[in-house]
Amino acid sequence: MESGAKKKQKKDRVVHKNRELTAILEVSKVLTTSFALERNLLSVMSTLGSLLEMQRGCVFLLEPLSRELRIVAAHGLTKKNIGKGKYRIGEGIVGRVLEKKIPMVIPNIGKEPLFLNKTGSRPEKDGISFLCVPIMIKNEVLGVLSVDRIYSKKQGNVDDDLRVLRIVASLIAQFIKLWESYEEVEKEKENLKRELKARYRIENVIGQSDRMQEVFEAVHRVAPSKATVLLRGESGTGKELIAKAIHYMSPRNAGPFVKFNCASIPEGLLESELFGHEKGSFTGAVSLRKGKFELADKGTIFLDEVGDLPITLQPKILRVLQEREFERVGSEKTIKTDVRIVTATSRDLENLLSQGKFREDLYYRLNVIPLFLPPMREREEDIPILIDYFLEKFNRENNRLVVLDKNVLQILLNYNWPGNVRELENTIERLVIMSGSDRVTASDLPVSLSIRRLKSSGKSASLTANVKEIEKVNIIDALEKTGWIQAKAARLLGITPRQIGYKITKYDIEEKTV
Ligand SMILES: Nc1ncnc2c1ncn2[C@@H]1O[C@H](COP(=O)(O)OP(=O)(O)O)[C@@H](O)[C@H]1O
Ligand SMILES: [Mg+2]
Repeated sequence: MESGAKKKQKKDRVVHKNRELTAILEVSKVLTTSFALERNLLSVMSTLGSLLEMQRGCVFLLEPLSRELRIVAAHGLTKKNIGKGKYRIGEGIVGRVLEKKIPMVIPNIGKEPLFLNKTGSRPEKDGISFLCVPIMIKNEVLGVLSVDRIYSKKQGNVDDDLRVLRIVASLIAQFIKLWESYEEVEKEKENLKRELKARYRIENVIGQSDRMQEVFEAVHRVAPSKATVLLRGESGTGKELIAKAIHYMSPRNAGPFVKFNCASIPEGLLESELFGHEKGSFTGAVSLRKGKFELADKGTIFLDEVGDLPITLQPKILRVLQEREFERVGSEKTIKTDVRIVTATSRDLENLLSQGKFREDLYYRLNVIPLFLPPMREREEDIPILIDYFLEKFNRENNRLVVLDKNVLQILLNYNWPGNVRELENTIERLVIMSGSDRVTASDLPVSLSIRRLKSSGKSASLTANVKEIEKVNIIDALEKTGWIQAKAARLLGITPRQIGYKITKYDIEEKTV
């Protein structure tokens, strides 16, 4: 006869087995719903947490570049704990599991010196068991899955748990491999689409919008000639970049490209800078000096901010344009130069003309071929590819592998980039250099970006609107990080679930809005 206690034990075991099966089924369901890596892994961890009563759990993945293990999804840890959870190969239990490619169990972490508790998530270590299995496919280790468990008398044992964890780890491994190839295919598709669309290409210049493609086409047409080009557009739109492209795509590319900013030098020195001077032609002219026009012989001279040329100097420039000749300051000898002239300005030349600050004849001479570089707000479709381009560039330069969260991309897209490409470039460089982790989230962005998100309003946004906008971004960010589980997001933000529910309604936040 079986005793009552034994019967009860048997029954408990059946219940537990059922739970295990349910958990494994849930995990495989979660992993096949989508390719959202972090969100799916997070759901896996909370499934293990709720169905198998595992107190804490983490998925660590190996970062290919740093060769470090980083937590990508966790259950029962705060954001702060997660940030601290980094291990090198061979370091701590987690690092050892990765290195040895075998599971490890620490029956009581309170008694185990190898246990580092790096995340600081366990104030009380005694009585907690720690189970850790490698995430492997074939012979390649991708990461480590770990859980904390408190074994009570009535339920659970290490062998059962290890078996479940190994199954889950192999499901995760397969998912990660699939996810990687999915990402690769997506990237390729994106690249192909781009290549098809961009009929005209210029090295190091990004632009698939129709506006930029028109510019590219014009550059291809004018570059081979000696025609004077006037580049117009706001600061940071790429005028100098295009000026260089014109030079390097022209038959003069073996000659020099000489840049001169007409706004950078006091008026009194401009003439000698541009045309050179003879020794002793004025106080301080201790030796003969060639000017920019002479230095640019057989090449291209790029006169930036040409709208700032003082009216007194304009006739001499006009003469170079017409006759390709000039005299050095303090000399009567005429010098011939074979130079192509490209100019640029961000100023309203027509307005300067009507004010008498710019000569009409010079204006027409410069304006033979005007090219307009559109500001970023008029070619928003170029923003994502510019971001990709700069990310790749600065990752390469800094030996990093930084990626941007989806909602970060959204914020960058919504910003109105008053400084155009230059500002975007600087922002991405800063993010790559300053970001502590390889994934940039909304909270890593400078506040100014979040504030100026309200570009559509046209009017300058009120302070309360700004604060709301920042709050909304933070809530979406927290929801993203917690797999859209409101209670968890609330905890992350330090507010109550009721408060977050209220704000979600107030800001009309939906999962698909990001
Ligand atoms: N279309 C573009 N593709 C890639 N980089 C760009 C592009 N436009 C501008 N940049 C970069 O932005 C910065 C500012 O461009 P620049 O040519 O100096 O602008 P501008 O002369 O109009 O002020 C430079 O670092 C430049 O390389
Ligand atoms: Mg410039």
